[in-house]
Amino acid sequence: MDIGITIFNHILLNQKLNPGASGAFTRLLMAIVVAAKLVQRDVAKAGLADVLGRAGNINVQGEEVQKLDEIANQVLKRLLSSTGEVCTLISEEEADLIEIPRQYNRGNYLVHFDPLDGSSNIDANVSIGTIFSIYRRVTPPEMDAGLKDALQPGLRQVAAGYIIYGSSCMLVYSTGSGVHGFTMDPSVGEFILSHPNIQVPKKGKIYSANEANYCYWDQGTRDYIDWLKDPHAGHVKPYTSRYIGSLVADFHRNLLYGGIFLYPADMRDPLKPKGKLRLMCEANPMSFIIEQAGGLATTGGERILEIQPTELHQRVPLIIGSAEDVQIYQDFVAKANAR
Ligand code: AHG
Ligand code: MN
Ligand code: MN
Repeated sequence: MDIGITIFNHILLNQKLNPGASGAFTRLLMAIVVAAKLVQRDVAKAGLADVLGRAGNINVQGEEVQKLDEIANQVLKRLLSSTGEVCTLISEEEADLIEIPRQYNRGNYLVHFDPLDGSSNIDANVSIGTIFSIYRRVTPPEMDAGLKDALQPGLRQVAAGYIIYGSSCMLVYSTGSGVHGFTMDPSVGEFILSHPNIQVPKKGKIYSANEANYCYWDQGTRDYIDWLKDPHAGHVKPYTSRYIGSLVADFHRNLLYGGIFLYPADMRDPLKPKGKLRLMCEANPMSFIIEQAGGLATTGGERILEIQPTELHQRVPLIIGSAEDVQIYQDFVAKANAR
């Protein structure tokens, strides 16, 4: 029986196209695939965790039932560290650079990750995800990795991707030569290539934003959203609104169908506008993927991938999606700023 191209074969084929490759990067991606399977297993039991815990099955040491985002964080740390290919890790769940345990070799890569994205949706059985972003270290290998390695602009990512735990489990990744999607076939426990060379439609009909924040948005963003909803604006087809509240799920849908996702700055304090999404573990990986798929990602004034990060957990406005839609958004912002 032909089951198609497994993700392992896809990664190995990629390695062969790059004759100088040592296999280090391949090992790293493979560790992420295994981590995805482990997290998926726990996500699938999400509603049972408390039940099993109360029955004493997993809580024999009297430990509290772990929250899924903590479990996912531990799984990724363990799997990535044990490859021997990373010099540090940076997780949304931890304030500082994560030190690699002494028993493992240090390698030339570092990974930023959001172990569980959309975690407020877990209890309602809504799609959630994991996001990762891989860089090569820039400091000499004999030194401890530091902020100089961790705070590189998104343009320097060597790979990025996400796993979506949805009606099926999918892994989408790019190493800079297109975006490829794999769907888990539960009968064999493998991710199979299902979406080769994903391209986001040039223009979509979907917009995704938490409109409850409308009155805290800048004028350009409000003008744009008003225009999207204006039946007299001359749209060939009217826009429709879709917002899940899990970046991975909102992004994935718009990647496939076309459209725009907006999490603009909150201007509650106009002197300190602030975005919500994290540059390193959310905005940069998604921006790398959307650009590889032919789309755009901006803060409104700046291309996300060009931002020079200053803090590990820096937050940014993120407007991302189909190229024409993001371009129109930018035009609205520029027009409002010029008034
Ligand atoms: P996380 O669960 O990793 O903290 O991320 C939550 C993020 C993101 O997934 C989503 O796009 C956004 O928060 C939703 O925010 P609002 O609830 O403010 O709309
Ligand atoms: Mn997140
Ligand atoms: Mn998270």
